[in-house]
Amino acid sequence: MADDAARKTILITGAASGIGLATARLFVSRGWRVGGFDVDVERLKRLEEEVAPAGGFTGVLDVTDKDAFDAAVGRFGEAMEGRLDVFHNNAGIGESGYFEDVPFERTQRVIDVNFIGVVNGVHAALPLLTATDGSLCFNTASSSAIFGVPRLAIYSATKFAVKGLTEALSVELERHGVRVADVLPGLIDTPLLESTPNHSGPADEAVLSRERIATEGPFRLISPDEVAECVWQAYHDETGRLHWYVPPELEGIELAKAQDVNGLRLALKSQAEG
Ligand code: NAI
Repeated sequence: MADDAARKTILITGAASGIGLATARLFVSRGWRVGGFDVDVERLKRLEEEVAPAGGFTGVLDVTDKDAFDAAVGRFGEAMEGRLDVFHNNAGIGESGYFEDVPFERTQRVIDVNFIGVVNGVHAALPLLTATDGSLCFNTASSSAIFGVPRLAIYSATKFAVKGLTEALSVELERHGVRVADVLPGLIDTPLLESTPNHSGPADEAVLSRERIATEGPFRLISPDEVAECVWQAYHDETGRLHWYVPPELEGIELAKAQDVNGLRLALKSQAEG
């Protein structure tokens, strides 16, 4: 047991698929104990088989339910001797289409999961993060938090909110010895691409449809393993890096925006129309 208490821990939301699953697997393979939470009961069962032998566990959690989030973190704290080295606030969903075409309850749900869920998570996890030396709260934002993405307006806006929250808390939570950072992934090869419906036309014209994805450049399709590796690097980083871009060249778009926001807007407009 003494050995177990010395082993680091990570709590991941949206752990049953895509980026969360890749992160869970990477951290287990490197000797960490993983608490994986998700709404997808069937996929959680498969994850349980992978994390349990290494001292981890899984649980059903809808991140929009604050009471349930508090209970999940409480259960994690009991199982892990009050230790939380990395909190990966990662669960997210998408809806695509023109703003007025997306049914309003779907719009509301995107805000609830992608932003309120992250707020719930930070609030629930903060006591454990504070109690753990060198802890990191790591939020999954998106490259859509660089420039607002047409036909993903609300999704994109929630990611700007996550990025802004990350920036503010990265300063605030220093008081508690908690580091805060985020990842801005480009297009990652996960089931999210298919599960993000297009409300403004045929499915193959969806903003995230595989047919539209470039084969090179910053928006080429990337493996979720690369994002998982980025979570690992962010925890071990000693430079205090705040935003992590996957792939790294996405940061160039951030710089281009800072220099000429209207130029970038026009470039994206002609790209979308062409
Ligand atoms: P995914 O669909 O493979 O995984 C998301 C997981 O979140 C699923 O297992 C799903 O069941 C879970 N989830 C959904 N609603 C939930 C809720 N209310 N409570 C708890 N769990 C919930 O998608 P992916 O790509 O792995 O997404 C992970 C994060 O990465 C999301 O925040 C997404 O917005 C973000 N992201 C994804 C990109 C991509 O191209 N796939 C690009 C940029 C960011």
